[in-house]
Amino acid sequence: MNNSLKVVDERTATSYDIPIRDGAIRAMDLRQVKETPDDFGLLTYDPAFLNTASCRSSITYIDGDKGILRYRGYPIEQLAEHCTFLEVAYLLIHGELPTQEQMNEWFYDVSHHTMLHETTKKFLEGFRHDAHPMGMLVSTVAALSTVYPEARDIHDPANRKHQILRLIGKMPTIAAYTYRHSVGFPYVYPDNELGYTENFMNMLWKMVEPKYMANPTIARALDILFILHADHEQNCSTNVMRSVGSSHADPFLSTAAAAAALSGPLHGGANEEVLRMLDVIGSKANVPAYIEKVKAGNFKLMGFGHRVYKNYDPRARIIKWAADQLFQVTGGNAKLDIALELERIALSDEYFIKRKLYPNVDFYSGLMYQAMGFKPEMFTVLFAIPRTAGWLAQWQELVEDPEQKIARPRQIYTGYDARDFVPMTQREITAKVKVKVEH
Ligand code: ACO
Repeated sequence: MNNSLKVVDERTATSYDIPIRDGAIRAMDLRQVKETPDDFGLLTYDPAFLNTASCRSSITYIDGDKGILRYRGYPIEQLAEHCTFLEVAYLLIHGELPTQEQMNEWFYDVSHHTMLHETTKKFLEGFRHDAHPMGMLVSTVAALSTVYPEARDIHDPANRKHQILRLIGKMPTIAAYTYRHSVGFPYVYPDNELGYTENFMNMLWKMVEPKYMANPTIARALDILFILHADHEQNCSTNVMRSVGSSHADPFLSTAAAAAALSGPLHGGANEEVLRMLDVIGSKANVPAYIEKVKAGNFKLMGFGHRVYKNYDPRARIIKWAADQLFQVTGGNAKLDIALELERIALSDEYFIKRKLYPNVDFYSGLMYQAMGFKPEMFTVLFAIPRTAGWLAQWQELVEDPEQKIARPRQIYTGYDARDFVPMTQREITAKVKVKVEH
């Protein structure tokens, strides 16, 4: 059997053999398909990348139909059960789980990059008291680019490693400072004797006690959430990380851009929206009426559906288990009953079954974050901390991939053909520009 695709161009009655490799054809192989010799050649049109692979990657594997997620080959369930987040971050960046010695060195290196420059702290102080923490995080990560201009040298592996340590180390510090700023508490400096997640909790919640002691159940629950959010192959924000990185922007600016993409309600911002939705629903009794409105197309059920998963998101399953453990310490979340009822009805309703809509990672994570004491505004920031490890692993893979170039899609132009300039005195208002801004 020939491993190729035979394409016949009916316009010219020409046939082409397009090689198939790894279940894909190269879009560039279609460029030879021309109607006339000076024709540009055939393009593929794929808005929102529904069927386009943008890279080769050995980091994360997802089988959306079977509900499988693996980092570097390891099932997410096993990593969540046996590893710490920092161990998983090492795995994502280096490709293998660390030995004890490698882990000690990794922990030492990351924890020695947790401090922020005092000018960065001052920069954070400049935000309004009610600034959204995600906006603060995005801006501050971008501002780090000004503190570490040497990060621009992305082709030096040692330099790249240095910036990776800085970003993984500083992300919790920035995140904690956005929270302390919003409640008007003084910033807490990192404590390098504490683990990655415990130190984050220290920077969030330490008050006047001389040494912060994290509740181990809460710390473990947060660490598991970090593991589950660490990478998810070519999602919206990772695609932004790669796209911005492909222009050779420095990793701080690329990470800031990725975090901006994460903030949207269709992506990482969904966890915040789920909580708002549960507030709007108010009680279990109101769930059926709410589902009817979703089915009528009034709005989406937040925390449901996924571009890749057409089965139960494996992360949502682990979160449900971790939530049980957490709620034994923190007490349950009153909204859990509403969420469970939403899930029960949605999973048995024809509308959701037909479209293969299942709860995604964001459906239950917010309930856990809230039980830990976080405000909904902080939820996406909590997502961005661990995802930084995934973004950086993907960025490193991009930089080292000889096949990659600046990401630059084509378009199908739908605008005017050439037309002559019209002086202002002769212009007319067209329907398109009639929108008026009220002052
Ligand atoms: N509630 C109700 N209907 C939905 C939902 C939902 N949450 N999600 C998809 N649908 C419907 C669509 O309306 C569409 O119906 P139609 O065929 O009748 O038009 C069908 O299911 C297919 O949906 P698409 O929009 O084509 O799916 P897509 O892959 O483009 O979108 C997305 C995926 C953005 C996640 C979508 O499911 C959604 O908006 N979910 C809610 C937001 C959310 O939870 N985002 C978090 C995703 S996980 C993450 O990023 C970490």
